[in-house]
Amino acid sequence: MDDSDRQADQNALTATLNSFYLYRRAAHHNVTGRRRELYARMSERHRAVLAQTTGFLHNLEQIDVAIDQNSGLLELVAQIGANEFEAPQDRSEWASASTVDMDKAQGTLKQIYRDWSAEGERERATCYGPLLAEIDRLVGDGDRRQVRVLVPGCGLGRLPFELAANGYTAQGNEFSYHMLVASYFFLNHTTLAGQFRVYPFVGSFSHLRTHDDQLAAFAVPDVVPAAVFAGLAADDADPAGLPRFSMTAGAFVDVYSDPAMAWDVVATAFFIDTAPNVLEYIETIRAVLARSSASKRYWVNCGPLLWHFESGHDDQPAGIELPMADLVKVIESYGFVFDKLEHGIQAAYATNPRAQGSWVYNNTLWVARLADK
Ligand SMILES: C[S@@+](CC[C@H](N)C(=O)[O-])C[C@H]1O[C@@H](n2cnc3c(N)ncnc32)[C@H](O)[C@@H]1O
Repeated sequence: MDDSDRQADQNALTATLNSFYLYRRAAHHNVTGRRRELYARMSERHRAVLAQTTGFLHNLEQIDVAIDQNSGLLELVAQIGANEFEAPQDRSEWASASTVDMDKAQGTLKQIYRDWSAEGERERATCYGPLLAEIDRLVGDGDRRQVRVLVPGCGLGRLPFELAANGYTAQGNEFSYHMLVASYFFLNHTTLAGQFRVYPFVGSFSHLRTHDDQLAAFAVPDVVPAAVFAGLAADDADPAGLPRFSMTAGAFVDVYSDPAMAWDVVATAFFIDTAPNVLEYIETIRAVLARSSASKRYWVNCGPLLWHFESGHDDQPAGIELPMADLVKVIESYGFVFDKLEHGIQAAYATNPRAQGSWVYNNTLWVARLADK
């Protein structure tokens, strides 16, 4: 990394931390403040109707309380993250948070629900569940500690955590500081199940049956990873000395072009469509598997094709967006054999379980074996 890369990296970190700290002010302004202003400008007659039938202002007060709870958690996450990731002590040196960073702070609350609440298990079971089941089936009675599983784009880290807890040697990879900082917190700094309450959907007024649905609260974490890891430490480690659980920070293609990176299984969940050029992902996955000395090497995937660069997000040009049938042909051309390819696995993603409507993905699940060398 040269100096300008280091500065860009530090800016990304500190803008993320700032977004967690700014959430309180931004959410109070955007979610409740603007509605109070609108209410104040309404006719007396309309205000009276709302007051008598809905308790409109009281509801906004309850939303403010929930925002404060979310803020407390995000500020703690940022405080721990600033230490761990060595942000400058002087916050005036921190980069300011963009609106994208602020959206990601709000999104992080939903990811916390998805990965670290008991209720999020409904989502996890539809995506991580099939991947865990397929890996268990492939390994059978084999020694799980000797099976190294890599999870690129692992979000808040629940899938690699589950793999490690189930006996595999697992590594998660992420490049988003929102995810890295928050996953670090949940994986290492929680001490009690249900230690925090999070209100991930408090910012949205759509698709609600009752006001309470907006205030859906979730106790997190549902398990204490540090306690699970402490139990694992007594167990035998991976024969090559890899920790049972680890995380890497950085763009997947960059981190895993390192020739030392060898993995027996790559597990992707809601990840492959994040690529501007999916061929780079495929080549990287192929390379880490090809370096493995295991007799069989697999790529298991469960996810959609919501091509993230399709509309030129983040000022990037559009990416290479293939339909699934073409993607399968491309993957086969790299020497993968599809032992399983199932479409239409229904899954929601970080959505309010109480909402009156939510997007359901028809995911594709595959088990692709890297053909013998
Ligand atoms: C849709 S999310 C899925 C997260 C998690 N797998 C899950 O199912 O909840 C995609 C994740 O991939 C990460 N990601 C995107 N591009 C990446 C890259 N090039 N390297 C590493 N992570 C990446 C994003 O930051 C995001 O957390």
